[in-house]
Amino acid sequence: MTLTRRAVMASAACFAATAPTAGLSQSSPAIHVLKDPNCGCCTAWIEILKDDGFTVTTESSFGTQLIQHKLENGIPQNMTSCHSSEVEGYMIEGHVPTADIRRLLSERPNAVGLAVQGMPYGSPGMGPEDEREAYDVFLIYKDGSTEIFSSDDAA
Ligand code: CU
Ligand code: CU
Repeated sequence: MTLTRRAVMASAACFAATAPTAGLSQSSPAIHVLKDPNCGCCTAWIEILKDDGFTVTTESSFGTQLIQHKLENGIPQNMTSCHSSEVEGYMIEGHVPTADIRRLLSERPNAVGLAVQGMPYGSPGMGPEDEREAYDVFLIYKDGSTEIFSSDDAA
């Protein structure tokens, strides 16, 4: 299997970022995160989940093993980011905002899950929200097709 340039660059480009503010939370969904132990942005994203009330467990994975895990669980190559998570049967790929995860869990579409491609600057765990670049959260269907689930404008 050949790895996409984006996937390789995504894992190489992880860097530490500041954690934004906590939100009020209703429930505490259990989410399991596979992440490169050396990737700071994954850790920053996990802190945001915890602040929002998620119960987070983590597992180390990296390189081709991690990318294999994504592909085997229905994440299309062009949707990959750094960390991969699972919550209540859904895959969450990359720096997906907690509000979108909660919306997914309440709407419960027949789908693989959500993804934010690459690592957009200013997405949760990826630097200051007030310098955010525009990005989309995609809903991934089981046939590999995708549609925009939500869009975040540039700050
Ligand atoms: Cu990242
Ligand atoms: Cu990450």
